[in-house]
Amino acid sequence: MAETIEYDWVESNLLEPPCTLLNFGCCGDKSVEKFTKKGYKIIGIDRLKDERKIENYFALVKDILKHDIGNEYKCIYSISAVEHVGLPKYNDGILDEDGDIKAFRKLYSALESGGILLMTFPYGSQDIIPEKLPKPVDWRIYDKERLDRMIKGLDAEVTFFPSISEYIRSGWMKFHRCEPPREFFESIVQKKPINSGMDEIFSVACIKVKKP
Ligand SMILES: C[S@@+](CC[C@H](N)C(=O)[O-])C[C@H]1O[C@@H](n2cnc3c(N)ncnc32)[C@H](O)[C@@H]1O
Repeated sequence: MAETIEYDWVESNLLEPPCTLLNFGCCGDKSVEKFTKKGYKIIGIDRLKDERKIENYFALVKDILKHDIGNEYKCIYSISAVEHVGLPKYNDGILDEDGDIKAFRKLYSALESGGILLMTFPYGSQDIIPEKLPKPVDWRIYDKERLDRMIKGLDAEVTFFPSISEYIRSGWMKFHRCEPPREFFESIVQKKPINSGMDEIFSVACIKVKKP
């Protein structure tokens, strides 16, 4: 469910080019074309093969929960991908409830000292455990508790963007044929970042973590 908000936020927080970026969940990610044109080299990681041929882009087929991803990146980003990790559709039919947190920690470990990790995902008033919805879904929504677990002990800045819920709702209905959780009914079109009161409405959380 990547939105332009997320692409714009990542772009405005990248280190200056020339620089090699690691993009986790790169398959079909539109930022790749844009960022390589700006002078970045991108190494992508995804468990699916990205067939695109783009100059200065090289995509590795790796499952982040199973494979080594190295540890010498200055800048890593991931747009709307971590919320899928460990859910059965992306994990050979098996639920790894903390797959997302393991993936986040692995990406953090892959940073060199002074490096930054930029990550975006859906955020709302409750942790949506996909298996408990009427029809199992293939992505999570984070709440404060899960977000806190994710970034515990790290030097992290979090920015929230209220999301465009009607867009999300129609996408959800089309895909899952059931009503989405109640957060999606909020009709919010504000695109400005806000930093408090986000526990009541659906939004996108953008996390910037710096490794000492
Ligand atoms: C919503 S899609 C990618 C969104 C993309 N970043 C964009 O902006 O359009 C999520 C991606 O995460 C990948 N993914 C999920 N679990 C994974 C895992 N364990 N290891 C590697 N990639 C994974 C999926 O294959 C999928 O391509």
